[in-house]
Amino acid sequence: MLVLGIETSCDETAAAVVSDVPPFIRSNIVFSQLAEHRPYGGIVPEVAARAHLTHLDPVIERALAEAGIGFDDLDAIAATGGPGLIGGVIVGVTEAKAIALSRGLPFVAVNHLEGHALSARLVSPLEFPFLLLLVSGGHCQLQLVEGIGRYRRLGTTIDDAAGEAFDKGAKLLGLGYPGGPAIERAAASGEAKRATLPRPMVGREGCDFSFSGLKTALRLAVEKRSGALSASDQADLAASLQDSIVASLADRTENAIAAFLDRYPEGKTLVVAGGVAANTALRRRLTELAVRAGLDFVAPPLSLCTDNGAMIAWAGLERLKAGLVDALDFAPRPRWPLDPSAASVRGAGVKA
Ligand code: KG4
Ligand code: ZN
Repeated sequence: MLVLGIETSCDETAAAVVSDVPPFIRSNIVFSQLAEHRPYGGIVPEVAARAHLTHLDPVIERALAEAGIGFDDLDAIAATGGPGLIGGVIVGVTEAKAIALSRGLPFVAVNHLEGHALSARLVSPLEFPFLLLLVSGGHCQLQLVEGIGRYRRLGTTIDDAAGEAFDKGAKLLGLGYPGGPAIERAAASGEAKRATLPRPMVGREGCDFSFSGLKTALRLAVEKRSGALSASDQADLAASLQDSIVASLADRTENAIAAFLDRYPEGKTLVVAGGVAANTALRRRLTELAVRAGLDFVAPPLSLCTDNGAMIAWAGLERLKAGLVDALDFAPRPRWPLDPSAASVRGAGVKA
């Protein structure tokens, strides 16, 4: 079985071909729009949508060529149907529907978050249920993954996502975009203790996240050091910011592990996914937590952590096998919670 997956929900134009027999990933082409957004210091939705239109056709062509196949060899077309920047999602979904219609193939609309959630199953014989920490530029959630399309949200952010905290922090420190890798690099030569920042939500009940107070604290710390920041100030503040974000993520995950094992005493695995999962300090902390709780820890390789087409193709393949295909009148969804019952208890500012 071969599935083409298309990802256009943010600033990566991506397409991939995956199979249900090894090697699972036949191709995985990611075109990053970084250069197009860098002048603005962040992602501009309109710029992203236009760039997807320009880049998607050649990216799909390369994905097919690298897999050594043509459209007629495919069994289905999957595309991110949301959540995300709606202009980009419309581009990907429309393209996928057009291919599906013209080739008479099934179309599968994939929830981008389910793509991240199932990406670990591409590289590990991971069984349900597992506990997922999903940390990206747009999302910060803890989910019990009970099966394909079956999620129970334990916590989410009430303001910014973890990746946003890295990105906004890097901007305040003059470290450029994207912030996560820049903060991690700068932090390597810094001393966190020389610039203490708060550790949001640490010690509090539950599994929700909040990062906007940390951003304010960082801004005040930058303002206190009036004038241009020295390289060593930058490094110390980057180290402190990374420390605080990792401490907060770890604290919330510890509560989630307790909830997971309470519900599923036979539960075996903690999985991290999303772009922030690239962070080495975070991986180290999560490994410690998992070992202490007697869980396996699975982190997909970096190429599958950040946005990519393989995770969408794979989620599409898993859904197809479960008989879950979509009609061609599927409407792209800017918001699409994995756990609809959790969405109804959203508070002000709580992200799906
Ligand atoms: O999953 P992703 O590629 O896109 C979204 O769906 O948002 O995640 C991108 C996010 C950005 O906020 C970026 O700063 C963050 O992942 N990121 C990192 C690292 N590499 C990427 N954050 C911390 N440390 C890193 N090494
Ligand atoms: Zn993502």
